Amino acid sequence: MSVKAAIDIGKVLQPVQADLARVEAKMKSVETSLFAPLAVAFVDLIGSGGKRLRPALALMAANAGKADPAPALDSSVIALAASVEMLHTATLVHDDVIDGALLRRGAPTLNAIWNRGATVLAGNFMFARAALFAAETGNMRVIRIFSDTLETIVNGELRQLLARHNFHQVKDDYYQRIYAKTASLFCAATEAGAVLAGLPETQIQHLRSFGYNLGMAFQIVDDILDFTGDEATLGKPAGSDLAQGTLTLPFFYFLQALPAPEQLIAQMDAAVAEADAGDEQPWQALVPHLVRQVRAGPAIGAARQEAAAFLAQARTDLAALPDTRFRFAMLELCDFVVQRTY
Ligand code: IPE
Ligand code: IPE
Ligand code: MG
Ligand code: MG
Repeated sequence: MSVKAAIDIGKVLQPVQADLARVEAKMKSVETSLFAPLAVAFVDLIGSGGKRLRPALALMAANAGKADPAPALDSSVIALAASVEMLHTATLVHDDVIDGALLRRGAPTLNAIWNRGATVLAGNFMFARAALFAAETGNMRVIRIFSDTLETIVNGELRQLLARHNFHQVKDDYYQRIYAKTASLFCAATEAGAVLAGLPETQIQHLRSFGYNLGMAFQIVDDILDFTGDEATLGKPAGSDLAQGTLTLPFFYFLQALPAPEQLIAQMDAAVAEADAGDEQPWQALVPHLVRQVRAGPAIGAARQEAAAFLAQARTDLAALPDTRFRFAMLELCDFVVQRTY
């Protein structure tokens, strides 16, 4: 087995580091008139870090058509990148309420501190801020991409929520969901960055497709890490997808390889029915047992191969773009996505 050195994400993002600093400053600015507890929560959420992949993608896409060294980016691109990250953070705030998750980016979630209603409202505030930044781009196509993407994400999260504990769903539903909840924002970032840079439509479409394929791989790897990772490294709870009845790619592969999957599905249905009737014990006993089996079998490898296939497509999408350090950084992001442990 070949052992590759872990990829340092800070180095990968180096070509857009200076602009990312401008994005950070923009996101952190809040008026002194803002209701104090909201201002504190807001600054904490933005300051809690995160990999900043989506704003970096918007910045890289905006630079992708230019010869190296690229001229400074217009403030509209900074506004776009801030909008994308703000939208991402807002969806995480709501996602953690929905999942009842208490840890995010290694720190307590807002819903661990505030009640659910207040947390939802803080998320709404962040959505409003994201919309403001999108409007600041002054570009109708970008504003449209923003609103379409928000609709798509809400759709995806709702589909996922309503599909919980449905063990009869087909694998195709999974791809729809991960496009909606995750890949849609990756491709919005790359498409809108390319639009603001005034790239030709064919390049815009290549960059959009790149964002899509990278985003699909990113969520598949996130779903793998939920089985294989640990809370300390991830900075968020592990093993929780299946516990919540959310089926992801590794589990579909696991089911597919069983000689009699319907037997397990019947057992899972029965355990959930008992939980609904007030006895959580059978379900709580079954989940760790299944997680161990998924981890030990070939399902993780099969899911990894699928992520790798999306990444191969993502690399192909970049082939027609000029050979710059931005294109190189996007290629390195593909390597990061398969190797990442957090
Ligand atoms: C987490 O995204 C949500 C998913 C789409 C899996 P990231 O892993 O990019 O989260 P941060 O921003 O780095 O915390
Ligand atoms: C991504 O999915 C959620 C959003 C796009 C909001 P997950 O539910 O897998 O994300 P994590 O694992 O909580 O970060
Ligand atoms: Mg979640
Ligand atoms: Mg996850």
